[in-house]
Amino acid sequence: MQPAATACGLLLLFGYLTVRAFSGTYVWYDPYISPAVAPALFTPASGYPGAVPVAHAWLGAFPAWWPAFLPQTPAFFIPWMALAFRFTCYYYRGAYYKAVALTPPSCAVRGPARRYRGETMLLLFQNLHRYTLYGALFLIVCLWWEGLSAFFRDGQFGVGVGTIVMIVNAALLSAYILGCHSWRHLVGGRLDCFSCPHAGGGRDDAGVSRLPAYALWRSSTWFNERHLLFAWCSLVWVVLTDFYIYLVATGTIFDRSTW
Ligand code: FES
Repeated sequence: MQPAATACGLLLLFGYLTVRAFSGTYVWYDPYISPAVAPALFTPASGYPGAVPVAHAWLGAFPAWWPAFLPQTPAFFIPWMALAFRFTCYYYRGAYYKAVALTPPSCAVRGPARRYRGETMLLLFQNLHRYTLYGALFLIVCLWWEGLSAFFRDGQFGVGVGTIVMIVNAALLSAYILGCHSWRHLVGGRLDCFSCPHAGGGRDDAGVSRLPAYALWRSSTWFNERHLLFAWCSLVWVVLTDFYIYLVATGTIFDRSTW
């Protein structure tokens, strides 16, 4: 049941986000921007109701050379990094391998008689996860920027339900990234052993390493132990954030705010 539920959940949430990212419509309600298209490098100048305004896109309107058969959505430029990051995430890999291929079975679970070859051959591309981390770090800075910018409408400070929704979105995604195995390895100084003499830094009376990298590694460990939780919470919240902005942009609901 668990692999089946995981497969349904992932299909539903990623399916929704893919459709929304490709549509590029109703993704903006001043000053809110949907995480499905944020940050916007280019934006359509016309023909896409509820699109990001040209003034908000980093490089303005889509250039004339943009192929006509492709939809004009900002998701093509930076937001796709989130998908690459999640797709190669150690947790998601484990989840969708089990959900789709039913292999490898979990530890001590008698699984179907299939030969498990590990992540070899074509699956070696999953090693790119450590590089997708850099893209995710860049993206999270952008999402915090967009979240903090959502406190201002026409230069006037205020707060709306959408502002809070966007800030929670950035916070949950940060918690997800801070627990990433690649991040933990990186901030831990890429050491395999903190207590070994070659690690340096010395140890306190309790024998705990004094290395700053050790403290960072410990803090990342807290998030890492909850990686599954933050993976799901952040994914669900991205969908909810987009859906909220869609609802206010289409006029279906009213955004309560101080403006
Ligand atoms: S291991 Fe999950 S995001 Fe890196």
